[in-house]
Amino acid sequence: MHALVTGGAGFIGSQLALRLLRDGQRVTVVDNLSTGYRESVPAGAGFVYADLGNPEHYRRLDEVRPDVVFHLGGQSSGWISMDGPLGDLEDNLRSTILLADWALARGCRRFLYASSESVYGEGSAERAFTEATLPRPLTYYGCSKLAAEHYLRVKAENSALQHTCLRLFTVYGPGQDLANMRQGIVSIYLAYAAKGEPVVVKGSLDRIRDLVFVDDVVGAFVAAAAEPRTIGLELNVATGVPTRLGDLIRDMVVAVGYPELAVRPEAGTPGDVMHSFGDASRLAALTGWRPAVSVREGLDRAVARYRRVSTA
Ligand SMILES: NC(=O)c1ccc[n+]([C@@H]2O[C@H](COP(=O)([O-])OP(=O)(O)OC[C@H]3O[C@@H](n4cnc5c(N)ncnc54)[C@H](O)[C@@H]3O)[C@@H](O)[C@H]2O)c1
Repeated sequence: MHALVTGGAGFIGSQLALRLLRDGQRVTVVDNLSTGYRESVPAGAGFVYADLGNPEHYRRLDEVRPDVVFHLGGQSSGWISMDGPLGDLEDNLRSTILLADWALARGCRRFLYASSESVYGEGSAERAFTEATLPRPLTYYGCSKLAAEHYLRVKAENSALQHTCLRLFTVYGPGQDLANMRQGIVSIYLAYAAKGEPVVVKGSLDRIRDLVFVDDVVGAFVAAAAEPRTIGLELNVATGVPTRLGDLIRDMVVAVGYPELAVRPEAGTPGDVMHSFGDASRLAALTGWRPAVSVREGLDRAVARYRRVSTA
C-alpha cells in the first residue's frame, strides 16, 4: 500500500506517517511547511513540498500514485481563521477540492479527511455531540471544514470517490508545536507552564473540551481506513470525557513541577465555544476503535517529551 499523507510535516500528520511506515506501508508526505517542519517528516517517507490550495503545485506530485490519501494538511486554528476567511478557505476547502480531483484522476478512490469538532459550534455541558447533532460552526475554520465535508460527499455521490471524514476533537500530545502560540489549547498552556511563566488563558477557565491523545487519533485514521463501512460517513474522534480547562491547567502545572504558577484569564478569542465534547460510539461500533490514553497519562507523556527535548 502506498499512502499519501498531506500535512505530514505537522503535529498529527507526522505521527500518522510514522505509524503507517511502521505498519509496512510506503508513505509520501506533501506539505507546504506553513506550520510544519521538514525535520518532523519521518525518515523513510518521501517528501514533496507543495501548497495544496495551488493548482500549479500538483505537477510536483506527478510521480506519486497512492492507494489511499490521508488529508490532514490545512490551517488548523479557529482563531487564525477569524483574521481572514479567504486564507482559511484556500488552505482547507480549496485544497480539499483540488486534492480529491487529483486523487480520482490517478485512480485513487480512498480518501480520509481530517475534519473537526469545530463544525458543531456551541455545545452543552451535559450532552456530547453526536454525528446527528446539527452543525452550526462559529468560526470560518469550522465553516471551511464543514464545507469540505459536503464537497467530498457531493463528489462521492457523483464519482468513484470513497471518502471518510473524521471529526477530530481537541488533539494533544508529544510533538505538538510549543512555539506556535496561536494553535493548540494544550500546547499553548504547556508552553507557559514549562517555562514557569503565568499561564495566560484566552477565555473562561470553565470551558469544556474533549482531549484526545495523538496516538489515539492516529489509531482512528488507521482503523477507519481499514473498514469499508466507514466510507461515506462523518465520524467523531473523541473520548466522550469532558475536561474543564481550569482543571487541565491545574494538573499540567503540577506535572511540570510549578504548582504555584499563576493563571491569567484574558478575553476569549472570536468564535471560541464554552462546551465541546463528543460521542465516538459510531466509530467504535464500526471499527472497534477506543481511545486508550487518559488525559492524565497523555499529559505526563507530553510533559516528559518536553523535558527530553528541552534538556537535549
Ligand atoms: N490539532 C487538533 O486539535 C485538531 C482538531 C481537529 C482537526 N484537526 C485537523 O487535523 C489536521 C492536522 O492538524 P495539526 O494539529 O497536525 O496541525 P499542524 O499545523 O501541526 O499540521 C498541519 C500541516 O499542514 C500543512 N499545511 C497547511 N496548509 C497547507 C497547504 N495549503 N498545503 C500543504 N500543506 C499545508 C502545515 O505546514 C502543517 O505541516 C488539520 O487539518 C486540522 O485542521 C486538528
